Amino acid sequence: MSMPETTRLHGLPEWAALAKHREEFGDTHLRRLFADDPGRAERYSVTCGDLYLDYSKHLVTDETLALLRALARARDVAGLRDSMFRGEKINVTERRAVLHVALRASYDAVIEVDGENVVPKVHAVLDKMARFADAVRSGAWTGATGRRIRNVVNIGIGGSDLGPAMAYEALRPYTARELTFRFVSNVDGADLHEAVRDLDPAETLFIVASKTFTTIETVTNATSARSWLLAGLGAGETAVAKHFVALSTNAAEVAKFGIDTENMFEFWDWVGGRYSYDSAIGLSLMIAIGPERFREMLAGFRLVDDHFRTAPPEANAPLLLGLLGIWYDNFFDAQSHAVLPYSHYLSKFTAYLQQLDMESNGKSVDRQGEPVEWQTGPIVWGTPGTNGQHAYYQLLHQGTKLVPADLIGFARPNAELAPEPAAQHDLLMANLFAQGQALAFGKTAEEVRAEGVPAEQVPHRTFHGNRPTTTILAPELNPSVLGQLVALYEHKVFVQGAIWDIDSFDQWGVELGKVLAKRVEPALTEGAEVPGLDSSTTALVARYRSLRGR
Ligand code: F6P
Repeated sequence: MSMPETTRLHGLPEWAALAKHREEFGDTHLRRLFADDPGRAERYSVTCGDLYLDYSKHLVTDETLALLRALARARDVAGLRDSMFRGEKINVTERRAVLHVALRASYDAVIEVDGENVVPKVHAVLDKMARFADAVRSGAWTGATGRRIRNVVNIGIGGSDLGPAMAYEALRPYTARELTFRFVSNVDGADLHEAVRDLDPAETLFIVASKTFTTIETVTNATSARSWLLAGLGAGETAVAKHFVALSTNAAEVAKFGIDTENMFEFWDWVGGRYSYDSAIGLSLMIAIGPERFREMLAGFRLVDDHFRTAPPEANAPLLLGLLGIWYDNFFDAQSHAVLPYSHYLSKFTAYLQQLDMESNGKSVDRQGEPVEWQTGPIVWGTPGTNGQHAYYQLLHQGTKLVPADLIGFARPNAELAPEPAAQHDLLMANLFAQGQALAFGKTAEEVRAEGVPAEQVPHRTFHGNRPTTTILAPELNPSVLGQLVALYEHKVFVQGAIWDIDSFDQWGVELGKVLAKRVEPALTEGAEVPGLDSSTTALVARYRSLRGR
């Protein structure tokens, strides 16, 4: 059913008011906004759990923020949020509840799906995971030959890989250093090969992570891993039970693969893949950091869930981040958003956010199936500072594109760092603060000239500035803070999807490529005729086959 134009996003008076405000805003410079308001930094900052967010370096005034909040009210973002927390089926195209928030709900919470409280099930699985994680960590769980497990290989892709891999990296100082963890995702056999080539199968546990348990990459890698294991052990199928466990919603497929469903850790269709690493999908992480730390991480998620539910709009961090993104995406034509963590431990954080954000909000029809007439999700990208500074920051500072960015940093270096690396932390953070400053305020031609720079070089060495950033500062990167950061972005993505009126919880866009790959594969292997194949792909397949000597 299509909606009348006046109730669609771009027909709302709140949208028109923002468009008008954008015209009036023109190229107002942050230099002026800061000069006019000495209290700007204090007023434009918000605290959410351990996270301090400074959003003063954004191209906004009180009026901008009020208009953005009015848009959120008109789109009933709070209503949709409450529906999500109540377990209503807000994933309309798949008719599913969206309840990653139930994964970190406290024992006594009641969240119902189809009349059933799901919280006890969540905690039962967490307890089962904890027993298993403890058994692996203590050596009580042994491989088929009786040797203890020293290597854990997670096989999964997308949400069944990126979350645990990112969090393992982020929390490395908290991990059991005597265990080796590897993450295999790519159907390129090189990934599995490199992950296991130096491992002893007798000491290796494979965790096959797949919500559906039908994902071709994961099933293929798991099958190859099973062959590697059995060949290495010289053992029969019975060995699989001690070396393979599954994380899935699909017990039938897990059993079909040959994994004992006793060794399956369950989750449910109301957990989206990209929202799942705090479910059973986090088993490898729990083995790495231990159940207690894992629960601290869940508590961090919960803290931000509570904040998102209860903080007033002016002080609601995910709402603010979402609205700032809308401002640039829809009214400044910004195409992308950079996430730049000043922490080497967060080296996989942006890759994780790419799936969270782009698979959620990369949509071009609204919830009613009508084409959207407004821009939706941004291209999310970035790598840890300071590396990016010596690569692409040139474009951020002096390029023609507006790229809003998040700068994420921590006050304390990780306690495990020895004195010298720890001392480098001030330098790291000085870089973060300097980048935010340079991006916002730049350097005027007068300032450049005053330094005695030759006239012909002045334009090249001038920085216009006015490039917006949010600085997110936390005391340290620990399990709780990681949970807080992830929940912050989850809810930011939610806010934007609600405003754009899109289903942020389906991912039909990944289907076509999967179907076509299955159709094309026999052409590569057997030279089979693929009906209706275009001339470009036909020629590429022919060349490929000839290069392979087929
Ligand atoms: O890329 C599509 C997708 O369905 C993701 O949403 C998901 O995280 C990934 O594939 C893996 O799916 P599964 O966990 O079912 O193997």
